[in-house]
Amino acid sequence: MGLEKSFVMVVCILLGISERSMGWKHNYGEALSKSILFFEGQRSGKLPPTQRMTWRKDSAFDDGFQLYDDRFFDKVDLVGGYYDAGDNVKFNFPMAFSTTMLAWSVIEFGKFMGPELNNALDAIGWATDYFLKATNTPGFVFAQVGDPHGDHNCWERPEDMDTPRTAFFVSAENPGSEVSAEIAAALAASSIALRKFSRNIAYSERLLHRAKTVFEFADKYRGSYNDSLGPYVCPFYCNYGGYQDELVWGAAWLLKATKLPYYWNYIKQNIHNVKNFGEFGWDSKDAGINVLVSKLLVNNPAAKPFTLNADKFVCAVLPESPLVSVKYSRGGLLFKTSGSNMQHATAYSFLFLVYAGYLNKANKKIDCGGGVLASSWRLKNLARRQVDYILGSNPLGMSYMVGYGQKFPKRIHHRASSLPSIDQHPSKIDCKGGSTYYETQNPNPNLLLGAVVGGPNINDEYVDSRADFVHSEPTTYINAPLVGVLAYFKSHPS
Ligand SMILES: *[C@@H]1O[C@H](CO)[C@@H](O)[C@H](O)[C@H]1NC(C)=O
Repeated sequence: MGLEKSFVMVVCILLGISERSMGWKHNYGEALSKSILFFEGQRSGKLPPTQRMTWRKDSAFDDGFQLYDDRFFDKVDLVGGYYDAGDNVKFNFPMAFSTTMLAWSVIEFGKFMGPELNNALDAIGWATDYFLKATNTPGFVFAQVGDPHGDHNCWERPEDMDTPRTAFFVSAENPGSEVSAEIAAALAASSIALRKFSRNIAYSERLLHRAKTVFEFADKYRGSYNDSLGPYVCPFYCNYGGYQDELVWGAAWLLKATKLPYYWNYIKQNIHNVKNFGEFGWDSKDAGINVLVSKLLVNNPAAKPFTLNADKFVCAVLPESPLVSVKYSRGGLLFKTSGSNMQHATAYSFLFLVYAGYLNKANKKIDCGGGVLASSWRLKNLARRQVDYILGSNPLGMSYMVGYGQKFPKRIHHRASSLPSIDQHPSKIDCKGGSTYYETQNPNPNLLLGAVVGGPNINDEYVDSRADFVHSEPTTYINAPLVGVLAYFKSHPS
């Protein structure tokens, strides 16, 4: 271990990172509390009396009344769920992925959360209550609420919205296996988290039952929601990577939840379709599948193909690996192409921590070639480096989490945060009435505590501009994996 540590130090010195800026001084507990609180700021629907982020109010309580296709329903109850990011659309595909990651965070690291565990379970429940509504009619799955074109054309508080709240669904004739299977994964993972830590076993069973029927629908009617809903889901959450990964991911979560051979056979028969071993995020579940299945089958020879691919993932991410395919800024932040870079730093760190647990159990190291042997210590160290960077150990000395540390983003691209709250300004601000608040150089009036933004550019620079949404917008899928990572480091601070 001493040797590896000095090797890492050498790499860090080569990268120009001093030991001081590497941190080991962050308050991970505070960051954990805030990372969960963020989800309250994204809540849609009628807020409960326990709402702690009180500048947000009830919104979108007619969701489900305006249907894109009214051949099958008059209206449905689709109140609730989360706004995706700095806009007010409910995109169920990434929302489901964020829910799966919140649930996985609790399953792996809930035991380290202390009093935050209940808040994390509430954050999951806010999503699953909504997904039960979105999947309430057999043969249909609601994929999205809100016309993104109308929404993006306005800068409005969710409480004031008058843009089309169009509800879009997939069906047997217009399938959407990616969104349906990801919702099945979210329901199955949430059922495990709740079974493990909450007293509401009946609710957990209800989630699992629904996960099974939604998965069956996703698998039986195969296709991408691109085809029927293209103009509304693309380019926002277009399914670029195909839906095969979501089907196997859904089956893997159902296997973990049920242990039924049916799902294991399904995974074995379909894993050849999952080839992007180095990808993990709202669109590609590939690396997550390999890590999850490896961990399910520790020391079982059947795990071999999954473990080999999870090892390849690690070797594609570690900076000292000859096979590295991601980039790092001089300050040490992981970079991949595509917007909202911080999503990669948090999701990859999460997988690294989970896989480090696997390496410990299996008592192994990964041989990346060129003399690079990756141990569980090294994987945790990389995850910690990413988290410390996010919390302020970086060349700007800037925290990328709103409300954490002395210096953090003040002009995030977020409608509710940047417009005055209903308490401060009770009268309506209409579509274009928000423009002055969008354009001002003033800081946002409402702190969206815990929100982590897209982050700096690859030169470790950050301009803190509302218009620069690639860098200044928070999303649910940046925060969701971070919840688990922070819980781990809260209880393993050094
Ligand atoms: C969805 O549409 C995008 C953009 O047109 C395309 O690149 C992608 O391959 C499509 N995905 C599927 C699964 O058809």
